[in-house]
Amino acid sequence: MATITLKDDVTGKAVQMPVLEPTYGHPVVDIGKLAKEFGYFTYDPGFMSTASCQSTITYLDGDKGELMYRGYPIEQLAEQCNFLEVCYLLLYGELPSAEKKELFETSIARHNRIRENLRRFFYGFNHDAHPMAMMAAVVSSLSAFFHDRLDIHDYEHRMVTARRLIAKMPTIAAACYKHSIGDPAIYPRDDLSYTGNLLYMMFSLPGKRYEVDPIAEHALDVLFTLHADHEQNASTSTVRLAGSSGTNPYAAIAAGITCLWGPAHGGANEAVLRMLDQIGDIKNVDGFMAKVKDKNSNVRLMGFGHRVYKNFDPRAKIIKEICHQILDSYGHDPRLDLAMRLEEIALSDDYFIERKLYPNVDFYSGIIYSALKIPVEMFTVMFAIARTAGWITHWMEMITEKDQKIGRPRQLYIGQMRRDVTSMQERD
Ligand code: CMC
Repeated sequence: MATITLKDDVTGKAVQMPVLEPTYGHPVVDIGKLAKEFGYFTYDPGFMSTASCQSTITYLDGDKGELMYRGYPIEQLAEQCNFLEVCYLLLYGELPSAEKKELFETSIARHNRIRENLRRFFYGFNHDAHPMAMMAAVVSSLSAFFHDRLDIHDYEHRMVTARRLIAKMPTIAAACYKHSIGDPAIYPRDDLSYTGNLLYMMFSLPGKRYEVDPIAEHALDVLFTLHADHEQNASTSTVRLAGSSGTNPYAAIAAGITCLWGPAHGGANEAVLRMLDQIGDIKNVDGFMAKVKDKNSNVRLMGFGHRVYKNFDPRAKIIKEICHQILDSYGHDPRLDLAMRLEEIALSDDYFIERKLYPNVDFYSGIIYSALKIPVEMFTVMFAIARTAGWITHWMEMITEKDQKIGRPRQLYIGQMRRDVTSMQERD
């Protein structure tokens, strides 16, 4: 095994640390005995150089712009498999046979309803509640309904929880949307596909005929595959950390949902559309880009840049193609022209080239959602439905780790030195 020798220049003490070899990617120095040997902790805000765990689920190479789930390239999965096959792959580690695929689809359909008393939760929310706020609360509440199968050390309990979550997310998402527009919630149908059902529950009305549009159904399915997992991103790491305390998986996934909501993460797709609406016209693009490059403005080109990708996000390439296909079918959206102009400027501008900022998964996804008549507030909810597959897979991997421990980072304390409490009269 390769090692690296760390030497304390003050004491002269030198200790060999093992270097762990990955299947792909950067070797990782195992610093587990650093504190014991030297009395030091490491300091790495934002995990810039720190691997938080070992994982067998997803690999991404940010320099090459490569993404794989369980070893399969994302381009092949998006082209040849549907979202539920990808969920199966994430959960079980292999693509399903025809028979296993059917069984899995049947099981997802069996779990896609939510209880009536859970449905009533929605009446407690104001009509203008953000759907992500409703979704986080309702998903967290699922633990109050399924405590019969919540033994986190039981394989079957974990798997049924995973299937329940994947199955119920579209139903919860559609109920959030229906509540926000004051329409009655629609019950899922077992004869529709996963994304067909979501569209049906969002856009049909009691008493009215509704035909699922196969173009929209397929576009959503591909988008969900692209969003299903992305190794140790902020929300997945949140799920792992929350779950490491032994809390129930619904609570851990709810923590992931709240983390995803932020504009630096899954909230970026909503932020991109708001940005395009704010720019409004091609003639305002140059002025906007000047603000993006101005250090004092705090304005960012939303949908650009990524902590890991320093090249094209492979998902963005696929999404851009779908975006064109969708707009060919549904009619032109001037925001696509704006987005393409922003991309064109950014890809030839030194500011973006030097910082290796490329379009990410969220740059074009909002335009597709918008063409499918999905409102802006629902964009991150769409992301959450898809990412649930990744979250729950990571939660299962974490909980079954040998010697699994509660996540407990250390800190560099830079606050006050010890001091004594003074009486009220002596305080300023
Ligand atoms: N527009 C303008 N400048 C940017 C942008 C951007 N979108 N992203 C990064 N920069 C600059 C940043 O100002 C900094 O410049 P300098 O070195 O001069 O200070 C440099 O690039 C490095 O940025 P950073 O914030 O240190 O990089 P990070 O790895 O911490 O942040 C990021 C990654 C995704 C949070 C960031 O690129 C960003 O805020 N992008 C916009 C939001 C977005 O699209 N998020 C979706 C990410 S993909 C989907 C997901 O993860 O959910």
